[in-house]
Amino acid sequence: MKKTVLVTGGTGYIGSHTVVELQAAGYEVVVVDDLSNSKENSLAGIQEITSTKPRFYKIDLKNKELSSEIFSTHKIDAVIHFAAFKAVGESVANPLHYYQNNLGTLLNILELMKQYDCENLVFSSSCTVYGQPEKLPVTEDTPIQPAASPYGNTKQIGEEIIRDTINSSDKLSSISLRYFNPIGAHDSGLIGELPQGVPNNLVPYLLKVVGGELEQLSVFGGDYNTKDGTCVRDYIHVVDLAKAHVIAVDKLLDKKSKRYEVFNLGTGEGYSVLDLIKTFQEATGETINYKIVDRRPGDVEQIFADTRNANDNLGWKAERDLKNMLSTAWKWQQHLMRKS
Ligand code: UD1
Repeated sequence: MKKTVLVTGGTGYIGSHTVVELQAAGYEVVVVDDLSNSKENSLAGIQEITSTKPRFYKIDLKNKELSSEIFSTHKIDAVIHFAAFKAVGESVANPLHYYQNNLGTLLNILELMKQYDCENLVFSSSCTVYGQPEKLPVTEDTPIQPAASPYGNTKQIGEEIIRDTINSSDKLSSISLRYFNPIGAHDSGLIGELPQGVPNNLVPYLLKVVGGELEQLSVFGGDYNTKDGTCVRDYIHVVDLAKAHVIAVDKLLDKKSKRYEVFNLGTGEGYSVLDLIKTFQEATGETINYKIVDRRPGDVEQIFADTRNANDNLGWKAERDLKNMLSTAWKWQQHLMRKS
């Protein structure tokens, strides 16, 4: 019989791509999302790609009673917990909202998993836990720095809550995946990132500039100690990232993982903002109107992953290059423009 995976935040950006890959791998998928930062029609995109519409619950996971219906209705074999707020600036302005949402939902999920004997959890974490590391590339043993924002703190505390819960139980096992910078979209151009309002992140902003919705891309800082003065990040294709989640679920269900494991998910390559702009232009033939401006407070200068642990112990490796990330992102943006 097919195993069932509950994907929280499954209509969102990384969630929707992961649902596609889980279904392709033969899993039954149940999606829960409160649609606070996504649209229900990403399920139609998933259905078009996979010919299967996952079972969907529009529920706020902070409501434990409502959420328990999912567990009483379905025998959930594993949970992938994506559902969380992720805007750094907003978290600084409204920290309680972030702690309540990002930690409240995690606590409910863990309690429900215990109550309904679900033993396998994949947690959506971030390279933000490393801050600006002293040594690059960053391994999973790189020291965790005091969080630079309430958002980052919810990821650190989330990992700690899971570790403590595992220590108190002889059943639960979990894998935390620390994402670097996910970009790109499904090859079909039918699902992708859909930020509400003016985007904070680089690629969604750039796409709106090229699409004509925004005037100019501001490149934050041209005087960093990097090869061209702009910040360096490890951009990773969202489909590669989604596949890592399937492998993590397989590993947990096959009882091949340790009780708690952490993996960095990146390509291991660092690219500057200007590298990304240049590659986008080469990949698409479009020209980007950009200007180098002051640094954005809170940005780290450079970060990229040591991927050996994920390669050797998760059995996963990113396959797609920056050009593919950007051409698929552009295909998605064109899909959105045709629809509007
Ligand atoms: C940010 C968060 C990170 C979070 C991730 C997911 C910070 C410090 N980090 O990562 O914790 O997990 O988003 O949402 O906010 N850039 C521009 N112009 C723009 C936008 C960005 O030049 O309009 C630059 C940034 O300075 C950075 C790079 O592009 O160098 C990537 O920025 P972004 O996409 O926002 O991701 P991070 O800041 O790396």
